[in-house]
Amino acid sequence: MRFSSITALALASLATAQEVSPTPTGCTVDPEATYAKSAKLPDPFLLADGKRLATKDEWACKRAEIRDQIQRYELGPKPAKPTVSATASGGKINIVSSEGGKSASFSVSIKLPSGGAAPYPAVIAFEGTSIPVPAGVATITFPNHEVAADDPRGKGKFYDLYGSSHSAGALIAWAWGVSRVVDALEQLGADATKIDAKRLAVTGCSRNGKGALIAGAFDDRIALVLPQEGGSGGPGCWRIVADIKKNGTKTEDATQIINGDSWFAKAFTTYAPDTTVLPYDHHMLMALVAPRGLLVIENSGIDYLGPISTYGCSVAARLVYESLGAKDAMGISQASHGNSHCQMPSSQNSEVAAFFNKFLLGQSSVATDVVKTDGKFTWWADQWIGWTAPKLS
Ligand SMILES: *[C@@H]1O[C@H](CO)[C@@H](O)[C@H](O)[C@H]1NC(C)=O
Repeated sequence: MRFSSITALALASLATAQEVSPTPTGCTVDPEATYAKSAKLPDPFLLADGKRLATKDEWACKRAEIRDQIQRYELGPKPAKPTVSATASGGKINIVSSEGGKSASFSVSIKLPSGGAAPYPAVIAFEGTSIPVPAGVATITFPNHEVAADDPRGKGKFYDLYGSSHSAGALIAWAWGVSRVVDALEQLGADATKIDAKRLAVTGCSRNGKGALIAGAFDDRIALVLPQEGGSGGPGCWRIVADIKKNGTKTEDATQIINGDSWFAKAFTTYAPDTTVLPYDHHMLMALVAPRGLLVIENSGIDYLGPISTYGCSVAARLVYESLGAKDAMGISQASHGNSHCQMPSSQNSEVAAFFNKFLLGQSSVATDVVKTDGKFTWWADQWIGWTAPKLS
């Protein structure tokens, strides 16, 4: 990888709304690159060729590398935009995706807010929301399991279009579906949909929390990402959760996850038993969202979600935000509410509201600098983070 001809394009690309921001000139991803094993979380500021990042332009190259790695090792490929046509009527948008003589369609339903004025910002919710959505924000319900089933593998609209043996797992297929929803909103326009496609959030809980994070990480048009109780496979880091399990606490680690639902690509089976071979971990997945809004909403009361893993992994991701001068755009809120999975306690309301207000409702001065947990664990940063965060110029 060379940087001789890098321009200011990278920075501009982070601000413009495209599904995949273009990478700067001279920035290539080497699919043949080999990586040393790493017990600690890999350095998000180190390129495959050994160069350490110094500029935001170079971060744009690293992003391209991370996108490639996570798809290749874990999620499977997210196909490029097919031909999309959409129609809006009766509170629904029907979205038809076509490619190679095949087509597949699904619908989303839109609930407009009672307050505010059109065009409204909107939250795309994987099968509905379990966080409080403020007045003035529309809800678009995305039927992710229609796009790709948990089980059996290869079933759903995505696979109708791309073939049942396509190597994408359900999570990246869901992300593809969310991108088609954004395409439809852009194409139809605010007059037809009453939605402002430049002010979109995505949310979901549990498996859908993993899905919401991945959808936001892989579509740069989404302004705010609100994964709730996604646990491992979402904001959790594979390496940390493996250590929790080794220490004797029952939790959802990579080996278990690939033996269950078809969320991940089959390729991940090779890496799951020893995730220290991965050149990334999920702190880098979360860093793909930077500098856009990201609030990680987690439950510290369920061991299965790996509380120290989601917390520590998020702390590591936030260092990338900090390097980009966007620390306050990423928040971490972890609260214990026992086994009431996906029932967010009111103690987390204020940060959810703050992120909506800042990133969707234009209240730029709202404070979003939140890192909180009531988890009964001690986070040893030095055990997991062997790098320091440079100030990227
Ligand atoms: C596992 O136990 C070791 C030894 O007590 C400790 O150093 C480490 O931090 C623990 N891992 C996690 C993820 O809590």
